[in-house]
Amino acid sequence: MNYNLKSKVAAITGAGGAICGEIAKAFAAEGVSTAIWDISIDAAGRKRDEILSAGGRAIAVECNATDKTSVASALEQTLAEYGDIDILVNGAGGGGKETTTSPGLEFFDIEPEAMKAAVFLNYMSAVIGSQAVGRFFAQRQSGVILNISSVAGSLPLTRALSYSNAKAATNNFTRWLAVHMAQNYSPKIRVNAIAPGFILTGQNKFLLIDEKSGEMTERGRQIIKNVPMARYGLAEEITGAALWLVSDHAGFVTGAVIPVDGGFTAFSGV
Ligand SMILES: NC(=O)c1ccc[n+]([C@@H]2O[C@H](COP(=O)([O-])OP(=O)(O)OC[C@H]3O[C@@H](n4cnc5c(N)ncnc54)[C@H](O)[C@@H]3O)[C@@H](O)[C@H]2O)c1
Repeated sequence: MNYNLKSKVAAITGAGGAICGEIAKAFAAEGVSTAIWDISIDAAGRKRDEILSAGGRAIAVECNATDKTSVASALEQTLAEYGDIDILVNGAGGGGKETTTSPGLEFFDIEPEAMKAAVFLNYMSAVIGSQAVGRFFAQRQSGVILNISSVAGSLPLTRALSYSNAKAATNNFTRWLAVHMAQNYSPKIRVNAIAPGFILTGQNKFLLIDEKSGEMTERGRQIIKNVPMARYGLAEEITGAALWLVSDHAGFVTGAVIPVDGGFTAFSGV
């Protein structure tokens, strides 16, 4: 498919990581100038180098997506380099051991501060990014925002308290912001989300793979039983939906949360 994304510019938070790194690479392969915004400048630099060596355009920008000042600075650096931004992907996120119940951590003992940090990472980062770049989109009267949510946003996952809560908020925010931007600024500003299913990456390994044996945990096996396709997804399998949603092929799509989950959210377990 021709996505017609040549000469577009995308800022992608968390793009030093697995899923958003693949999204950045897929965008760059379509001619998008990419800005890898990540709290780890080393991780961002590695993805930048991969994109550059494949012949794409990329810059690495140190950015804490939960911090307004840091996001403002990343926006400034990206505009200084590329002169424009067409696409924002809010992808920073992660599991959060301190807010995931376990034999050593009961629900009753989870600290409010730990909840706050996890909700900031998995939800507020999308709000903060959308405020900064959304204001820019409002001025230029066009732009695309893509939030990376999770299947946990529609079906809360056992144990993963803050993560499920925050991703539910992200889905709700996606719909809210889609309406807000279209009605108040421009119908050419679209806001959507992808809700990936289970992709084995740094953020969930602690739940799915036993650290000592390297075998799949009981939870890992339970997940596979509930995925009709009977496997984990690959980070690169998220890129098709991302390319489509940020392209004009999705020109009438806003406020959508698209599952890419091997059928997990379609399956009742029976
Ligand atoms: N892996 C999965 O199964 C899965 C499933 C559903 C949704 N997701 C979502 O996809 C997104 C990417 O996850 P992933 O699996 O690629 O994880 P990952 O751990 O591979 O990547 C996350 C990246 O985010 C960066 N990051 C962490 N905190 C940050 C911050 N405050 N500001 C900027 N960057 C920050 C990390 O440095 C890392 O590079 C997350 O939002 C995650 O919740 C993942």
